[in-house]
Amino acid sequence: MKNDFTELFDEWSHTYDETVDGRDLEYRDVFHLYEHILDEVVFHSKGTVLEFGVGTGNLSRRLLKEGINLVGIEPSENMRKQAQLKNPGLLLYKGHFLEFPSVEQIDTIVSTYAFHHLTDEEKQKAFQLYHKTLSKEGIIVFADTMFETNHSKQSMINKAKERGFHRLADDLQSEFYTTLPILSDIAESTGFSVTFKPLNAYVWLMIAKKNDSTK
Ligand SMILES: C[S@@+](CC[C@H](N)C(=O)[O-])C[C@H]1O[C@@H](n2cnc3c(N)ncnc32)[C@H](O)[C@@H]1O
Repeated sequence: MKNDFTELFDEWSHTYDETVDGRDLEYRDVFHLYEHILDEVVFHSKGTVLEFGVGTGNLSRRLLKEGINLVGIEPSENMRKQAQLKNPGLLLYKGHFLEFPSVEQIDTIVSTYAFHHLTDEEKQKAFQLYHKTLSKEGIIVFADTMFETNHSKQSMINKAKERGFHRLADDLQSEFYTTLPILSDIAESTGFSVTFKPLNAYVWLMIAKKNDSTK
């Protein structure tokens, strides 16, 4: 992993659920409708599911509640502890988007609020890997902060600065939040058809369906 955020998430693990509840004003808009965002991802999940960046296990809990066969991957030890406390039955491994234990017959790959930890180059590698990992009609369902254009990204950074939200502005500038056209190119060049749907002012739902290679 080129950029390692594990230390940050080890520290954040104890208060992360307060942030998603909207108690951190700077991040309130980012996590607006959090529960609904998780529900959208669950709605599109089918078959055996692989989840990356499970964090404290909020999406995992919903997927397990639906009786879904789930394998979770999470690099932060403290996050894994929180997720396991919340979901004692969860099959959870140490790993990350590009390195994880081999798992057979995966039908859906899901993730929320995490794919931006990869550079665009790494995102491309991840999609190539997922094309091999997924079953014939497999799909990727990611909800994360992304922007329609670089201009809209810059406007959100400016807005955060104007509101005095410097942690948020730094985060938007230092992590690898990308644009829909870049993600479209990555998905299409690796054998997927992709659609996007806005879920709040920051977060989009991306659904990438593996193309039928027999055509
Ligand atoms: C903002 S939290 C999101 C947690 C959870 N998915 C949610 O929606 O609440 C990001 C999570 O991604 C994990 N993460 C960071 N870099 C990662 C990587 N390269 N691969 C997989 N997970 C990563 C972090 O440890 C953290 O648990």
